[in-house]
Amino acid sequence: MSDPLSQHTDYGQLPLNDSDVLADPVEQFRLWLANASDADVYEPNAMVLSTVDADSSPCSRTVLLRAIDNSGFEFFTNYSSNKGRELIANPAAALVFPWYSIHRQVLVQGVARPVAALLSDAYFASRPRGSQIAAHASEQSQPIASRTLLEGRVAELEAEFEGRDVPRPDDWGGFVVEPTMIEFWQGRSSRLHDRVRFVRAASGKWDRMRLQP
Ligand SMILES: Cc1cc2nc3c(=O)[nH]c(=O)nc-3n(C[C@H](O)[C@H](O)[C@H](O)COP(=O)(O)O)c2cc1C
Repeated sequence: MSDPLSQHTDYGQLPLNDSDVLADPVEQFRLWLANASDADVYEPNAMVLSTVDADSSPCSRTVLLRAIDNSGFEFFTNYSSNKGRELIANPAAALVFPWYSIHRQVLVQGVARPVAALLSDAYFASRPRGSQIAAHASEQSQPIASRTLLEGRVAELEAEFEGRDVPRPDDWGGFVVEPTMIEFWQGRSSRLHDRVRFVRAASGKWDRMRLQP
C-alpha cells in the first residue's frame, strides 16, 4: 500500500494562459465551476469557509455554494452557529474551492453579509422537508447529550408541523461573500504552477496579476 504522506503527483499539462483568463473573475469562476462539474468533481460547489473569532483565531469548515450573483458567493447556514456568530461580529471571510482531481483551486477573500430575508425564505422553501425539520431541530454548533435526544426533537417537530409547511427558523438563512480577491490556481508540471490573482480596487475595478507558484 502506498504511503499517502509521501505521494508526489506531477500535475497536469493544462496551462492557465493570461490570454485565456476572462477579464471578470466572477465569470472566470463560473467557467471553472462548469468545468469542474463536467469533469465529475465530487460536490464541485463545496467550499471551505474560514472565519475568525473574537480572539482572532481562525476556524474553517465546508459549506455548499448555492448561488453566485453580482454581489458574490451565497451559502446557507444557521446564524447562531459558530460561523454565523463569527461572521456577524466580523464579516471577514475566506473561501477555498479544492478541485484536486482536476488540479485546480480557487481562493476567495471577501466580506460576508446576511442576504435579504425573502431570499432565505425562498431557498428554505425549496429544501427537502427533512432538511427543513432538521434546521429547526438542531441548534447548530451547540453541544447535545446524545443523538437520541436530537432524533426525539425531530419526531416532536414532525408531529408539530404535520399537514403544513415548515416555516424558516428566524436564525437560519443565507450569507453572501462579496469578493475582494479571487485567485485561480492551475497545477502544472514540476511545481511550476499557474496562479492568476484578481484584487478589487477601491473603484470596484479588478486589478490582475500573475503570482509565482
Ligand atoms: C460537504 C459538506 C457540505 C456542507 N454544507 C454545509 C452548508 O451548506 N451549510 C452549513 O451550515 N453547514 C454545512 N456543512 C457542515 C459544516 O461543515 C459545519 O460542520 C457546520 O456548519 C457547523 O459549523 P460551525 O460550527 O463552524 O458553525 C457541510 C459539511 C460538508 C462536509
